[in-house]
Amino acid sequence: MKALVLAGGKGTRLKPITNTVAKQLLPVANKPILCYVLDQIKEAGISDIGIIISPDTGPSIKEALGSGSLWDVDITYILQSEPLGLAHAVTTARDFLSDSLFLMFLGDNLIQGGVSEFVHRFTSETPDALILLKEVADPRLFGVAELNGQGDIIHLVEKPKEPKSNLALVGAYLFTPEIHQAIAHIRPSWRGELEITDAIQRLLDTGKKVRSHVLEGWWLDTGKKDDLLEANRVVLDELIQRSVEGEVDSQSEIVGRVELRKGARVQNSTIRGPASIAEGCQIVNSFVGPFTSVGPGTIVEDSAVEHSVILERSHICGIERLADSLVGTRVSIRKTGDKLRAVKAFVGCDSTLEL
Ligand code: DAU
Repeated sequence: MKALVLAGGKGTRLKPITNTVAKQLLPVANKPILCYVLDQIKEAGISDIGIIISPDTGPSIKEALGSGSLWDVDITYILQSEPLGLAHAVTTARDFLSDSLFLMFLGDNLIQGGVSEFVHRFTSETPDALILLKEVADPRLFGVAELNGQGDIIHLVEKPKEPKSNLALVGAYLFTPEIHQAIAHIRPSWRGELEITDAIQRLLDTGKKVRSHVLEGWWLDTGKKDDLLEANRVVLDELIQRSVEGEVDSQSEIVGRVELRKGARVQNSTIRGPASIAEGCQIVNSFVGPFTSVGPGTIVEDSAVEHSVILERSHICGIERLADSLVGTRVSIRKTGDKLRAVKAFVGCDSTLEL
């Protein structure tokens, strides 16, 4: 069995940060989302992995993942010249996929507990497709499945205006080569994309076996700023263990599950977990509160930061409360006036904010 990871696309809903960083490389608990995806594919026993990349962000994805040796897997990069849809990405990968069964995993999705159980079910029950579903608050943002009383899928619609259920399609799908035939028969949707949802509907229409599984655990699609902060919150809460390898001076306090990586320095500050402070950070006269990830080489000075994700080499200075924020790389946010301020920011890379 092979895996196809979709890491192309435009990341429009995460602009401006995705002007310079691929959305699949945005960090959750200081680790790129795509690395969790590879962990889970490897854990499911698949080591032949194709990764769809775009011309813009492909080079940075290749640099981050390399040949796959870190996971002991083989990675084949497949360039999709335009983001013409999830089903178009499958067609682009046709040579790589050949006639294999495959797991298709969207590179911006995180699934609690991974996909091993579903891969196992797929190979033992051998349907033509197995899809994962999850109840969501606003199904209009996703592909939506309508099931009958026996739990069989009757209909699938991509981002319906009036959803018939609250069951969203999760970004991990298992397919036999039948999907290629189905894709050959679909047309672009109203948003101009070849939708995988329409291809699965085509499987249903032609009498193929499509099975579904409703997820119990959390599923996070990190497509927007608040989704990314939520993913960071959930992953820090669930996975971070206390590990203090950086330097902490005697005026500082590290409370609870805090990951303080080697080469990070904390002076006259409090870090309250769950939080992750990457290598080379300096936290000085500050408070870094729960559900915060601070990326490599960032400096936080005379500030308080909570429930935020800060990428690499940024500088936060004199901000009384930075909360619910997503801050890019090499950003400078500093106070110039006297008034106390609470700041909620979504700042792209290489920006300067003087408040
Ligand atoms: O996250 C689950 C949802 O993902 C499903 O509920 C929807 O049915 C499915 O269509 C998809 O919807 P999104 O609108 O969230 O897909 P997005 O455009 O964000 O693309 C998902 C991933 O695939 C992302 O990592 C980018 C990549 N991609 C996307 C397109 C359109 C490609 O590699 N190539 C593409 O052409």
